Amino acid sequence: MNHFQDLYRYRELIDAHLEEELPELDSKSRTLLEAMRYTLGAKGKRIRPFLLLLTCESAGGDVKEAVPYACAVEFIHAYSLIHDDLPAMDDDDLRRGEPTNHKVFGEGMAILAGDGLLSAAFEVFHKDYLIYLDRPEQLKRRIRAGAEIAKGCGCRGMVAGQASDLEAEGLVVSPDLLDYIHLGKTAALIRAAICAGAYLGGADEPDIRHFSDYGENLGLAFQIADDILDVTAETEVLGKTAGKDEKAHKATYPSVHGLEAARERLLELTTRAADAVERTSVNDGYKDQFTDLARALAHREH
Ligand code: IPE
Ligand code: IPE
Ligand code: MG
Ligand code: MG
Ligand code: MG
Repeated sequence: MNHFQDLYRYRELIDAHLEEELPELDSKSRTLLEAMRYTLGAKGKRIRPFLLLLTCESAGGDVKEAVPYACAVEFIHAYSLIHDDLPAMDDDDLRRGEPTNHKVFGEGMAILAGDGLLSAAFEVFHKDYLIYLDRPEQLKRRIRAGAEIAKGCGCRGMVAGQASDLEAEGLVVSPDLLDYIHLGKTAALIRAAICAGAYLGGADEPDIRHFSDYGENLGLAFQIADDILDVTAETEVLGKTAGKDEKAHKATYPSVHGLEAARERLLELTTRAADAVERTSVNDGYKDQFTDLARALAHREH
């Protein structure tokens, strides 16, 4: 049985709270709010919040208490997509089958919508810390979770990967630099979401290390699958313009290693992710869910 579909139990929870976790904005900031909501919209796969909640639950935590963190991670992801699509970055017109944020709201507003989503995430964390000021154990877990996410999305994680991705355009890139780009731009936030879930759920240090390995392997595999889909999928199914990476001379797994080697690496990393989760102390039912999720993401169509 494929346990991936079990994760849809989180979907409703996340979608119901995304809006609620957004800060209340003055009515004069209506356009900004609209632009932020536009990319938070319902068509995202919500992989990062799924992973955060699953990890928290598997470690024995209460999923409901982790929901603000799951939403915050999706805010950060949405911000990263808005900025990634800008003309100054990947210059994309299509995202999830719809016009990209800057196509609808203009470049300036799109930049600010991204900034708004990123800062909203940190407002969510700090609002949550305040609730736990009198419970040091709980507070510690939450600060650790917030710190993981801050590191994962920032200049030692996603932002670093995105910067190197831009610099690498049109250049001959070594396999080592390619890994650096992909680990940064994509794996860092995915890994951080998983580790945050582990902290929130009260996982011990050995489990956190194994979850971190799972997240890194899964995150790298996720970007390799994205690179492969850019070459092999149709725009209609992908919801983004297919074949863009080659046109933009991006450093991708297929461009550096070839399509076959990229597919092999994807499967190898998926196995490694499954091995890492096998080493955690969570029960077999959860291990199956983590493993099935990794396999489903490796074989996804968009
Ligand atoms: C797209 O992420 C950007 C990458 C890191 C490859 P997703 O594939 O998770 O995007 P949505 O949210 O499901 O559209
Ligand atoms: C995106 O990588 C990584 C992000 C941090 C958004 P890509 O540029 O390959 O993602 P897509 O293909 O535009 O979704
Ligand atoms: Mg990009
Ligand atoms: Mg892009
Ligand atoms: Mg891509």
